[in-house]
Amino acid sequence: MYSEKVMDHFNNPRNVGEIENASGVGTVGNAKCGDIMRIYLDIDDAGVIKDCKFKTFGCGAAVATSSMATELVKGKNIQEALQVTNKAVMEALDGLPPVKVHCSLLAEEAIHAALWDYAEKNGIQIEGLKKPKQDIHEGEEEEAEEY
Ligand code: FES
Repeated sequence: MYSEKVMDHFNNPRNVGEIENASGVGTVGNAKCGDIMRIYLDIDDAGVIKDCKFKTFGCGAAVATSSMATELVKGKNIQEALQVTNKAVMEALDGLPPVKVHCSLLAEEAIHAALWDYAEKNGIQIEGLKKPKQDIHEGEEEEAEEY
């Protein structure tokens, strides 16, 4: 059901932890399953993501996608990090079962929330970045049957 890469990132998640005095911190949740993810970014003066850590209170797919997402954004600049969508993360993991696709959204939204926090702290605007959702289902209606 899960690819080898998913199992690897679930069993040995990369970049678990916190960054003290992080440049940006983003926390998002999935109200339907109750899972929560927090991402910390350390961004240098040139706008490059030097370090990224995460904490996830969530399912295995959420752990694996956060782990892969942190690996993907490290070393990237902000615009490149915005391209790390849940689709990109899933591709890097060789796919997720359809019922677990929503879990990968947590990682994408948490990165966006952390970038938003960074932009607010520095009084800048990041092109293409929308105000993050607190819950990944915000704005979505009548989709309860999915679960
Ligand atoms: Fe909640 Fe996967 S079941 S994030």
